[in-house]
Amino acid sequence: FLSEAADELDIEAYAIGGFVRDFFLKRGKAQDIDVVAVGSGIELAKKVSEKLPGKPPVKVFKTYGTAMLKVFDLEVEFVGARKESYSEDSRNPEVERGSLKDDQNRRDFTINALALQLNKSNFGKLLDPFGGLQDLKNQLIKTPLDPEVTYSDDPLRMLRAIRFSSQLNFVIEPQSLKAIQENATRIDIVSKERIVTELNKILESEKPSIGLKLLHDTGLLKRILPELTNLEGIDEIDGQKHKDNFWHTLEVVDNISKETNNLWLRWAALLHDVGKAPTKRFNKKIGWTFHGHEFKGSKMVYQIFKRLKLPLNDKMKFVQKLVLLSSRPIAIVDEDVTDSAVRRLVHDTGEHLEDLMTLCEADITTKNPKRYTKYHN
Ligand code: CTP
Repeated sequence: FLSEAADELDIEAYAIGGFVRDFFLKRGKAQDIDVVAVGSGIELAKKVSEKLPGKPPVKVFKTYGTAMLKVFDLEVEFVGARKESYSEDSRNPEVERGSLKDDQNRRDFTINALALQLNKSNFGKLLDPFGGLQDLKNQLIKTPLDPEVTYSDDPLRMLRAIRFSSQLNFVIEPQSLKAIQENATRIDIVSKERIVTELNKILESEKPSIGLKLLHDTGLLKRILPELTNLEGIDEIDGQKHKDNFWHTLEVVDNISKETNNLWLRWAALLHDVGKAPTKRFNKKIGWTFHGHEFKGSKMVYQIFKRLKLPLNDKMKFVQKLVLLSSRPIAIVDEDVTDSAVRRLVHDTGEHLEDLMTLCEADITTKNPKRYTKYHN
């Protein structure tokens, strides 16, 4: 249908972006396809709809000059090829019509700039001006233009580079990594919603520590989640040390990711120790203490969710509850809690008990078989 519609309108049409990348990676089933028309994307969408059985409605986004069509459970997004430049400190791009090459130029990474022609005469022809296919083979994240330009056009792309690196286990090309380090402060102008979308994708990857470490190394994490970077470091007084709770947290997140795909359980693992930075004290007799860190931590979960515009609903409460209880598995098992607030929570942990135990198991340093025997039996 697409080929016919494009040929009838006499415009060039290409599949581009994630669909083409994942096609070459043989990765999963596509949920959406981006189509670039060298001409009007909206007109092409309308023509395709006319040809489809039942003529599905075309959703037009006039301000962006794009259109969307649902074909079975596939979302096809149509856009006219464009040159795009973002003005400094603004999220509103100035858009001009352009060639396919212009459109590929303004994309984030070479692996996302691959285009497959859809017109009949050249169906399936690959247009790859930046060596994206080679970068796919070399497992490399690289920008089509100078990274300074690509990242200042849309600073979210710094986070996207890290997200793709974490999802695909690809390496970020050194010049690009340097540009991210140097431009990390620019992430501040990006909306929280867009940041969270990428953060969630990092957390949902097979080994989230790949992305989290890159966020840390580039200085982005300090701007997005300073509560986590505050956990970094080991203090020593009178020969007494505590563990580095930042690197420990990354280990816990990887451990839990082997056990579950539940995003909120992964968030709980990420935040389970955040209360330790503000509660850290040194006591001459007993050494380092983090007294009350679980209460502080669960309050911080609310503040973090609010700041990042994450949902303040039962998901947040779930994360809070796990953070509050994760360092007290013994309390849950033995029900010998004297603290009334904890006792109340233990009481209504109910359906989350298994999730809590998964988190405690992942929290390797509290992994003491004796503490769990009662539960497992
Ligand atoms: N894109 C871009 N810059 C962005 C966002 C997107 O250049 N900040 C381009 C890329 O070419 C990308 C395409 O738009 O491939 C589609 O973006 P999106 O749907 O967000 O990501 P996908 O690459 O499709 O990846 P995924 O589906 O895994 O999110």
